[in-house]
Amino acid sequence: MNVISVVGARPQFVKLAPMERAFLTGGATHRTIHTGQHYDHAMSDGFFDTLGIEPPAWNLGVGSGNHGAQTGSMLEEIENVLIDARPDCVIVYGDTNSTLAATVAAVKLHFPVAHLEAGLRSFNRRMPEEHNRVLTDHAADLLLAPTEVAAGHLAREGLADRTVVVGDVMVDVLLEAAERSIGINLGWPDGIADSPYVLATIHRAENTDDPHRLASIIDALAGLDLPVVLPVHPRVRTLAAGRGLELATGSLIPIEPLDYVRMIAAVREATAVVTDSGGLQKEAFVLGTPTTTVRTETEWVETLEGGWNVLSPSVDDISRNVSRPTPIADRGTPYGSGFAAVTAAAAVMEHYA
Ligand code: UD1
Repeated sequence: MNVISVVGARPQFVKLAPMERAFLTGGATHRTIHTGQHYDHAMSDGFFDTLGIEPPAWNLGVGSGNHGAQTGSMLEEIENVLIDARPDCVIVYGDTNSTLAATVAAVKLHFPVAHLEAGLRSFNRRMPEEHNRVLTDHAADLLLAPTEVAAGHLAREGLADRTVVVGDVMVDVLLEAAERSIGINLGWPDGIADSPYVLATIHRAENTDDPHRLASIIDALAGLDLPVVLPVHPRVRTLAAGRGLELATGSLIPIEPLDYVRMIAAVREATAVVTDSGGLQKEAFVLGTPTTTVRTETEWVETLEGGWNVLSPSVDDISRNVSRPTPIADRGTPYGSGFAAVTAAAAVMEHYA
């Protein structure tokens, strides 16, 4: 069987790692198209190295741009590759512009599309990720849902027939990285080497595009009592520099983006996490680090059970939420136990081999 995965952005490389392995172990031919949506070493090649992913067979080098221009360039380039490669199935991941572009390119050529991480919904139609998810789910042929909640959303949209619940492949990678990360040197700057710290990441458009919103989040993080380690997404670095916004202020310690294994160690060792990332909310939940999510909603509603994750749409509440006591509720295993990729690859091979 001839499978092609299409990825482009950091969280998709994480999901690709166990899927590639599961396809190869299952005897399929697997190749990757990298759209080039993320291109800095720390955002892209570093992940392929750390996670042991095969280099992409095609790198389209599309780069950054407005949503329409970026998605359109990818669509055109992916179509050219697929016409020659003639895959039995195209796998698309998550909810980025690369996901949508690959889906549209493949369905128009009548290649089956399997969407990994199908059925997530924020019900916030202002998010670019929500457009990408909804459009991808309705165009794809096989919907690989991470949870029953996600499958429920798909059923309500009339897509139950195409849905298989496979678990969450990010947990497969996470459990492996957590083992590899034991005893790793985090390489923190002097002064916080042995002290408790908060780990923070902010990158979503709804928190960064409005200059006042980003400035007030930076202020709130800078005012926390503990040191706040902030691996800075290039989008935020560019926006902050353009607006004269200082990131190294108060408690804040801006650092370069971390590789995946160091990030997992950093989450596990942190006293608390503050984030707007979907993946990080889940990673912190599985590792048992209380999280404050700077958003009005989350797609990963299971993390809210028992108070391990709390939403903090108001910037004024971040400090109070971060200093809440560590929850005691049992977290269970709503995202599976580390075998999702094997289940997902088996479902694809069963449908399209
Ligand atoms: C994208 C995804 C988002 C995902 C995130 C993970 C979409 C709509 N958004 O957001 O869902 O959570 O990836 O990180 O697809 N940049 C660099 N170097 C890079 C990549 C980006 O400098 O390697 C800068 C550029 O200024 C670029 C900006 O970051 O314009 C935004 O990048 P883009 O890929 O458009 O969106 P993300 O914010 O990364």
